[in-house]
Order: sequence, then C-alpha cells, then structure tokens
Amino acid sequence: MAAQEQQTILDCPAARTPTSPSTTAARGTSGISAIDVFCGIGGLSYGLAAAGIDVVAGIDVDGSCRFPFEANVAGAQFLERDIRDVTAEELSVLWPEGSLRLLAGCAPCQPFSSYRKGVSPSSDDRWVLLRELGRLVEETQPEFVTTENVPRIHDKTVFGDFVEMLHRLGYSVDSDICKCTDYGLAQSRRRLVLVASRLGTAAVPEGDWRDRPAKTVKQAIGNLPPIGAGDTHETDPVHRSRGLSALNRKRMVASKPGGTWRDWPTKLRAPCHQRSSGAAFKNVYARMQWDRPSPTITTYFHNFGAGRFGHPQQHRTISLREAAILQGFPKDYQFAPDGNVVPLTTLGRHIGNAVPPPLGEAIGRTFLNSLIEVNV
Ligand SMILES: C[S@@+](CC[C@H](N)C(=O)[O-])C[C@H]1O[C@@H](n2cnc3c(N)ncnc32)[C@H](O)[C@@H]1O
Repeated sequence: MAAQEQQTILDCPAARTPTSPSTTAARGTSGISAIDVFCGIGGLSYGLAAAGIDVVAGIDVDGSCRFPFEANVAGAQFLERDIRDVTAEELSVLWPEGSLRLLAGCAPCQPFSSYRKGVSPSSDDRWVLLRELGRLVEETQPEFVTTENVPRIHDKTVFGDFVEMLHRLGYSVDSDICKCTDYGLAQSRRRLVLVASRLGTAAVPEGDWRDRPAKTVKQAIGNLPPIGAGDTHETDPVHRSRGLSALNRKRMVASKPGGTWRDWPTKLRAPCHQRSSGAAFKNVYARMQWDRPSPTITTYFHNFGAGRFGHPQQHRTISLREAAILQGFPKDYQFAPDGNVVPLTTLGRHIGNAVPPPLGEAIGRTFLNSLIEVNV
C-alpha cells in the first residue's frame, strides 16, 4: 500500500477517546497502556499483555503482521504505517486518557547484526529507525519506554544518542544484555534490553530461570511428530519445513548433531570450504544438538546454509513450528487464518524477528513492579 493511501491513526475508528472501554476481558488492568511500534507479529506485545499491560496498538510497515498481531494481542489494533510518518499527536490519541503510557519499539536489528558480516550498517536506511523511536519518545514523553536489539548496538552512536536523550528528559534508564535461557527459553539468543521510566527506578528484569540449567532443544521440540524436508504436517500447518536440494540432502545426512561441514566427505563441500585458508563460517550447514539450547533463531532458520538450523535427528531444517516454540510462542498462537497456507519465508522472517514473548512478559512485569515502588 502506498504511504499516501495508508490508514492514518487519527482517522481510525478505534482511536481512543476518554470514554473508550477496554474491549476484552483479557486486556490488562494495570493502568499501563502500551503502543508497540515495529510490532511485527506481536512477540513483545503478547508478552507485555501476558504481564497485565493493556496493549492498545501495534504499528508496523509490513501488512502481513496484521493477522497474527490482532489475533493474539487481545483488543489491540494494528496500524500499517511507516514509523517515519507517524506523529506524536497520532500516538496520543491511541493511549487512553489517564493511563500510564508505555512506548515500546524494537527497531529492525539487521543493520547491527553480526550475521551480516561485510555489510556496512550505514548503507542501510533502517539505521535511522531507532532515531525515529527517539523522536516519538521526545515528542510524547511517555511514563515508560522499552526497546530491544542485538547486543552490538550498545557501542553504536545511535544507541548512545538514544540513552543520552532519555537521561536529558529525566528518565531513569537501565540496559543490559539478556540471555534468553535465563527467561526459560531453549535458545541461546542474547539481546540488549533497555527500560526507561519517569516513575521510579527502571531495572532490566532478571530471568526467573537464571539459576536453573538451560532448557534443551529436546525439552522444547523433542515431542513433535516427525516430518520430511519440504513437508507440512497434516494437522499442524505451522509444522512445515523447507525442502532440500539433492546436494543439501546428502550434506544433511552427513551432518552430525553439534558437528560442522568438516564432518562431510570432501566431495560434498562447497568451494569456500575447500580453500586452504578455511575462511568459511563454521556454524552454517550444521545440525542442532538435543541436549543443548538452540542457536539464535534468525529470520533464515529454515535455510540449511544460513546457520546451525538442521534438526538434531531428522534430515531437514527446523520447521516454522519448532522455531516458534524455540522463540517462546505458545502452541496456540495464531500465525495465519484457519485454512490458509502458512507462508514459509514471510512467517519465518517474522518468527526470527520477534522478541520472545517470555522476555516481553518479564519486561512488562518490571514496569508493573516499579508502580509498587512509587505507590501508584
Ligand atoms: C525486530 S522486528 C520487531 C519484532 C516485534 N517487536 C516482535 O516482538 O514480534 C522489526 C519490525 O520493524 C518493522 N519495520 C521496518 N521498517 C519499518 C518502518 N519504517 N516503519 C514501521 N515498521 C518498520 C518490520 O516490518 C519488522 O516487523
């Protein structure tokens, strides 16, 4: 949809007025209302809502996020908009009057990701998107702010500027690298989480699972029914895996859990694997291990050449369902309307992009706990 034709928030019939009631019983009653910019399919919002926060709206430029966002985040509306066109006035209409406002926004992480070696971040205009979140914070000055990104963003000017702006506006700010295993996930994802508050002291939540052994891939997905490469399970359309070429199938068969392409016979290796410099990624074309957490689920987890995304036992990459479980989405999360074919690459991108809901829930709880501290 062209930008000019897009729905504007102020025109939206569901925009809040002081008399708008909460629309479903499942909505939070904490007094905190959240708008999630860059909402994706709602991983963060789902977690915030599970903590008891009233998520009123999600904004994302990608219209394919609408169904999963609205189907799973009770009562929240999805606005298909480019953040660069969204104004403070539009956000202010969405937050119910009198609520404590949370502005959440996880800008796309690809410009900072270590998976994009050799790609200059400055060549990617998504660099500016964290600044757009900063603009909206500065213009609306909500009570609470949160953002999440790859750990490397910590040393980037754009992040330093964001933190400096929050301090200048009088926010209490905390940021830390969170290990998703500490939040009960069977995934070794690490993310930088920032929380900021104008009410009391902001504190990045510690994970409830931090003193326990990390969950394993087997515990998370070991009970799912087997499927073949390229197949979709007959009763679960999300349990769908990508097909393999004849060569990649041979490579998969030769791959050991936790091993590398060095386990393969020479004839199966790619030209870059055969160079004497050995300058090739070790953790591609590789299988996960049952007794460990998975690697970070990226947007390309369905691609054998893109990481350690081979199933520990079956000759295929992990399915959309398996990736969703490793990301902490509940089994009943609705990713596509009933009867629709689940799009592999689109949904794969959204699942890989998501904030794991359990991490979102911990972030939500930290804001709720801060209300107790300041007696609100
Ligand atoms: C890291 S993902 C967010 C994931 C989401 N927070 C979740 O937990 O599921 C970033 C999102 O930003 C969206 N995006 C990228 N550029 C945008 C823009 N200019 N305006 C609004 N959204 C944008 C992408 O479509 C993507 O869904």
